[in-house]
Parts: sequence; C-alpha cells; structure tokens
Amino acid sequence: MATLRLVFFVTLLAAIVLAAPASQRRTIQKRSFKVPRSLNRNHPRGLNGADAMRKVFMKYNFKGGFISAFKNGEKFDDFRVAAQNGSASNSSGTVAANPEDNAALFLSPVDIGGQTLNLDFDSGSSDLWVFSTDLPQRAIGQHTAFDASKSANFKVMQGAQFSISYGDGSGAAGTVGTDTVTIGGVSVQNQAVELANAVSQSFVQDTNTDGLVGLAFSQLNTVNDGQQKTPQKTFFDNVMGDLDMPVFTADLDPDGTGVYEFGKIDATKFQGEMAWIPVNASSGFWQFASTKFAVGDQVMDNPTASDAIADTGTSLLLVDQAVAEAYYSQVQGAQNNAQVGGFIYPCDAQLPDMSVAIGDTYMAKIPGNQITFAAVDQANTTCFGGVQGNQGAGLQIFGDTMFKAQFVAFNGGNQSLGFGEKPPVA
Ligand SMILES: *[C@@H]1O[C@H](CO)[C@@H](O)[C@H](O)[C@H]1NC(C)=O
Ligand SMILES: *[C@@H]1O[C@H](CO)[C@@H](O)[C@H](O)[C@H]1NC(C)=O
Ligand SMILES: *[C@@H]1O[C@H](CO)[C@@H](O)[C@H](O)[C@H]1NC(C)=O
Ligand SMILES: *[C@@H]1O[C@H](CO)[C@@H](O)[C@H](O)[C@H]1NC(C)=O
Ligand SMILES: *[C@@H]1O[C@H](CO)[C@@H](O)[C@H](O)[C@H]1NC(C)=O
Repeated sequence: MATLRLVFFVTLLAAIVLAAPASQRRTIQKRSFKVPRSLNRNHPRGLNGADAMRKVFMKYNFKGGFISAFKNGEKFDDFRVAAQNGSASNSSGTVAANPEDNAALFLSPVDIGGQTLNLDFDSGSSDLWVFSTDLPQRAIGQHTAFDASKSANFKVMQGAQFSISYGDGSGAAGTVGTDTVTIGGVSVQNQAVELANAVSQSFVQDTNTDGLVGLAFSQLNTVNDGQQKTPQKTFFDNVMGDLDMPVFTADLDPDGTGVYEFGKIDATKFQGEMAWIPVNASSGFWQFASTKFAVGDQVMDNPTASDAIADTGTSLLLVDQAVAEAYYSQVQGAQNNAQVGGFIYPCDAQLPDMSVAIGDTYMAKIPGNQITFAAVDQANTTCFGGVQGNQGAGLQIFGDTMFKAQFVAFNGGNQSLGFGEKPPVA
C-alpha cells in the first residue's frame, strides 16, 4: 500500500513538471544549496605534517629526495592487495600528536539512490566514487557501503571501470553505473557513480569516509571502457546549468569545518569585493599563474613562478621551494628538517603573514596566526608549517591553509576563481 502511494505521488509530480512551460520549468529548477563540511576525527591519513606532505607529493606524482626519504621505513599501500588481504595492520608512524590541530580531511553528506554516505569534496580530482557492497565485508567494516541492488534508479554502465590513486598511495578501483545523486537537496539524475570493489588500506581504516566527490574538470575523470578513457561528467558539471549561478564556493573555518555552497556567492562571508581570476583548465585543474608572493608587506617576485592550482583536497599551501625558503628565513628558529619532511619552527615563534599571487591581480593573504599546520611533538614545542616547499616539482598546490583564510568561488561558467578575504580570527 505504501509503495502504491509513493508511485502515485511520484507520477503526479512528474506530471506537474512536464505540464510546466519550458521557461517556467527553468526558473523552478534554478536554485542554490549548501552542504556542511564537518571535521573527520577518525582520519588516519594526513594527520601530521609528514603525512600531509607525503600525500600532496604523491597525489601529483612529484618526484625527488622527499619521496624516497619517506619511502624508507614507511609502508605504502598497494590498494588492490590491501583490500584482498584485509589485514588489520595500520600505517606506520602516522598517528598525530594533535589531530584536532590540523583538520586534515572533511566530509559532507551525499545521497545516492536514497542511501546517505559521507563523502570528501575534492577540487583536485574528478571522480565520484563510493564504498560499495562489492567490497569484501572486512574492507567495508564500519563504513556505509552503497548497495546498488537497493536503488531503484541505479543502472550499470556496461564494461565501464575506474581506477584512481591519490597522494598517500591510497586509491580505489571498481565498476561504474549511474544513479540519482542528491547533494544539499538538489538532485542530478544519471550521475556517474563509481563503485569501489577495491580500496586502499587507509580508506579501510578511515571509517568516516565513504568516498569522494571530485570537483575538478571532468577531463580528469578516470572512467574507461577497458581500452580507452571515457571520462564522465562531475556532479558539478551536471548540476551547473540548473543553478542560479554556475559556481560552488568553499568557506572553510580555521578549525577545518565549514560549508560548500552551490549556485550562490554569499557576500557576507568575506570582506570587500570579490577578485576574479581566469583559470587555465587545460590540465583539468583549477589552475592559474602565481608569479609573486609577500612576506608580511614585502612583495617579491617568485623566481620559479610555477603555475598553481586550488585544491580543497590538500591540507597544505605548497609553494615553489624558493618561496618557502624566503618565508621561513623570516621565522626565528625555522629549519627545513629532512627527517620531519619540511619546515618546522618553535611553536612560540612570531610568524609573519604570507601572501601568494592569484593570477596577475590578487594577492591571497594568510595571517601569520593561521600558518601552523600542527605540532610535531606531544609537548607542542616544535610546529610544522602549513606553508611548505614543492622541492622543484613545477606546480604549486594551494590547499586548506589558504582556504581557511580565503573565501573561494569556483566558477565553471566562465572558468574563473573568485577570491575574498575572510574576516580575521582572534
Ligand atoms: C597480507 O597480510 C599478511 C599478514 O598480515 C602479510 O604478511 C602480507 O605481507 C600481506 N600481503 C600483502 C601482499 O600485502
Ligand atoms: C596502530 O596499531 C597500533 C598497534 O596495534 C595501535 O596501538 C595504534 O593505536 C594504531 N593506530 C591507528 C592510527 O589506528
Ligand atoms: C566570471 O564571472 C563572474 C561572476 O559572474 C564575474 O564577476 C567575472 O568578472 C567573470 N570573470 C571572468 C574572468 O570572466
Ligand atoms: C595552460 O596550461 C597549459 C599546461 O597545463 C600550458 O601548456 C598552456 O600554455 C597554458 N595556457 C595559458 C594561456 O597559459
Ligand atoms: C598541545 O596542543 C593540543 C591542541 O591544542 C592540546 O590539546 C594539548 O593539551 C597540548 N599539549 C600540551 C602538552 O600543551
């Protein structure tokens, strides 16, 4: 009986939508919505500075002394093997001293075919993948796993598969289908949903993360038909045309919680006018030039001037090496410590503000009191900087250290980024 009523109700709704004139239908659909981002306190990855460094270096395939330094003595996941093995071992030496200090990964609720999962929104990748019931039970553990057989709208994409690997050697692979995906109350029908049948050990351990929502450009999507790439559209690409504005914004608080908003720019969340900078999307990232930086008020040319990308899935602000060196030369007691894997300093050091150019017209400022990523030791005497060098990797990656100080709008309509300075925190 209940089922019949439901079917009738849905049919009635469909009739109303179909009866609406095209122009009116458009205005009814246009809207905006918010998604909360909450702190994941169970995240075993990226909880300390070394992990955060390792993650961003491997995510972008950066090579160099750093990686080999960390490969020694560190266990890297082979994700297919890890899922099959299902051992209860955890990654070595990566337990944070102060997890609450450095907000390393954040989650937002997403509805897929009526099942709610906690997913990580990542502007540095383009796959929407989830834990699925195709995984062995020991890999699923406490996760919510998507069960395609319980979804009325799920359709298998015949022969399609995906395989993605991220920074810390973590990754996921599996099959692909389409379903209705609802975020913040707005639905996309036939959204490509990638169902993991193998995940890395670190995802197994991270019981709060049921998958990712990639928000970079669709060309980076890893779906293929076994022979060649058949990239699927991201949720944002699919929903863009139905939004009041073709944007999503990241408004991250210093504690790492915050809000993603789609379709609207909330001007009360930043000071002054928003500065707009065109992005170069040819690589699939939200990419732009960054040829200057400032330490305090002193503006300097970045001698390397690698392009930069805006990446909500990275914890640190990773700048060209010379920029990091110039910054920490102004911090008493700072040193680049090979063992820890980056710049550290006494936690009571006075840190100057840091600014990085976004395109030719805007300097994004991070106040000195928001630079620290985490303490390195239990006693909180030595701290790991949220600004680090890229060791000549040829790309700067502006992650959460920047997003906590800057309100950022990602505009998919004219492929630009909008920046506004967030109010200072005490
Ligand atoms: C599987 O687990 C066992 C026991 O924990 C371990 O010795 C072995 O190296 C693992 N195999 C792989 C391929 O990781
Ligand atoms: C890793 O395993 C050790 C020993 O089983 C345990 O004491 C520790 O709490 C674990 N760490 C994490 C992050 O799960
Ligand atoms: C892109 O769109 C925004 C919002 O409508 C506008 O303010 C900005 O000037 C545009 N930027 C570029 C680079 O076209
Ligand atoms: C955009 O980036 C690509 C590499 O990702 C580069 O080859 C190209 O020259 C860039 N275009 C502009 C206009 O800067
Ligand atoms: C270190 O900082 C953390 C987080 O602010 C705090 O919880 C902890 O008590 C501090 N430890 C010491 C020894 O001060």
